[in-house]
Amino acid sequence: MLWDKESRVLRRRKAEILPSPNIWYHAGAYEIENRAQDADGEIWRVLAGLRDWAGLDVVDVGCGDGFHLPLFAERARSVIGVEPHAPLLARARKRIADHPTISVKRGAAQRIPLPDASADLVHARTAYFFGPGCEPGLLEAERVLRPGGTLAIVDLDVSAEPYGRWMRSDLPHYDPVEVEKFFAGQGFSCRRVATRWRFTDVESMESVLRIEFSPRVARLAIAEVMRDNGVSSGEITIPVGYRVHVRNKPTGMLLPHSSSSDSGSSSPRML
Ligand SMILES: C[S@@+](CC[C@H](N)C(=O)[O-])C[C@H]1O[C@@H](n2cnc3c(N)ncnc32)[C@H](O)[C@@H]1O
Repeated sequence: MLWDKESRVLRRRKAEILPSPNIWYHAGAYEIENRAQDADGEIWRVLAGLRDWAGLDVVDVGCGDGFHLPLFAERARSVIGVEPHAPLLARARKRIADHPTISVKRGAAQRIPLPDASADLVHARTAYFFGPGCEPGLLEAERVLRPGGTLAIVDLDVSAEPYGRWMRSDLPHYDPVEVEKFFAGQGFSCRRVATRWRFTDVESMESVLRIEFSPRVARLAIAEVMRDNGVSSGEITIPVGYRVHVRNKPTGMLLPHSSSSDSGSSSPRML
């Protein structure tokens, strides 16, 4: 019976995980990708402007192998990475071994292994929160946040040239307008961020585009990048757009409406 229960739990956990072939199967190329991303620190600037985490408690949901954890830890009081894929968790543990304020836990966005109201900033970058269907994770993030806390979801902007066009070639059914409507309907504001990915050499750039796209689209993308960078250049850059969806948890208590002018309304009001 115990075995039955355990296997049910394992099946449920597996169903909750979204496959991420890039980071799961190509650790080296994904590390190159993370180092190349946001070469000018634009995403970090926008995040810090929306919610400065200096001295606060940060949770990174879908933290992968923990690349962003030490960066948050430079100013946060504590940083917790949450990741469902065990091999990545092991790599994240290695990365944070010398960082006393960082820890990692196995879990998923739908079941964050943390108490209610224990975090000031919940951050997720290109992980799980891709639009309709991520409502269970939104509820969990809200549970884990303290009143006044912030949920920041960083994702690729599929409408931005040229990277977004390459993504759309591989994902013809992805509808960026529907995704943005979804987040707006859930109370998020959206900031578009123009960034550059910067590679030290052609081989690095090629290895990353090959794990992100189908062989046909990768060939096309690599040819475009080479054309735009000039054949002889050492450093290679690619313009890549991101969206940062942000929502703050209300600070006050929620009470049912009671004033006469609101009679008949059942929506809550803030104190
Ligand atoms: C593209 S990777 C991004 C990793 C990391 N955020 C980064 O930027 O380096 C997506 C991550 O989401 C994780 N993931 C998959 N399903 C998830 C879920 N239900 N909840 C949280 N993370 C999930 C994957 O295992 C993977 O580590």
